[in-house]
Amino acid sequence: MSITPDHIKQKKGKQKIIALTAYDYSFAKLLDSAGVDIILIGDSVGMVCCGDKDTKSVTIEQMVYHTRAVARGVKKALVVGDMPIGTYETAESAIQNAQKLLDAGAQAVKIEEFPGVLPSVEALVKKGIPVMGHVGLTPQTAQAFKVQGKDNETAEKIMSDASALSEVGVFSIVLECIPTPLAALITKTVAAPTIGIGAGSSCDGQILVSYDLLGMFPDFRPKFVRQFFHGDEVIKRAVEAFRQAIETGNFPSHDESFS
Ligand code: KIV
Repeated sequence: MSITPDHIKQKKGKQKIIALTAYDYSFAKLLDSAGVDIILIGDSVGMVCCGDKDTKSVTIEQMVYHTRAVARGVKKALVVGDMPIGTYETAESAIQNAQKLLDAGAQAVKIEEFPGVLPSVEALVKKGIPVMGHVGLTPQTAQAFKVQGKDNETAEKIMSDASALSEVGVFSIVLECIPTPLAALITKTVAAPTIGIGAGSSCDGQILVSYDLLGMFPDFRPKFVRQFFHGDEVIKRAVEAFRQAIETGNFPSHDESFS
């Protein structure tokens, strides 16, 4: 049975929500078989797969391409497609572009908060398209990658954005890079489950970029990332072994060749 947005809502306060990003079929299949609840095709694809300096140049066509690949690999997890900047500024464009992600295999979409975004979220929810909100550090519009909500004014703004998203019916909200006490207060106050990334342990769930978790994104390592694997070293060692095996005539062997 596959996980639905309702299952994610029911987990609030009972069971932690486990979420990760994926961008291709093979990774998605691995994450799904490891029991992840949500697989997000994040617009972080621009940075980790394409070497872009931020997520601002990611297009809906890129997201459709990667969503299709991920969806083919997933049997159980909820597949969420990220809406890139410039694709959901009006209710009409939001519905049109969300439909492209759904047609590619997503079961829900994620939208970053910015002033004036609520009518788009409301229109999607009314249309029956499940939406995951995203507040705090919102990379599509952020001026800098830094902790948000450190003073009362910005903390209140993040709190009210999260409440408004919850009230219009999002099924979960990503809280990115905000102080732990603020994330705890939002988690306690809003009905929608919160999924933290750099927001402390009180959130209803956690998400990381899979390349960060696996130690495979060398350019930048935020404080909130724990590397559960050192993919950079392991992959480099494997490729060096491959090179040596070819140079010494050890690869391919008789068994690895056709007679
Ligand atoms: O694009 C992305 O990967 C994200 C996650 C970090 C939440 O938005």
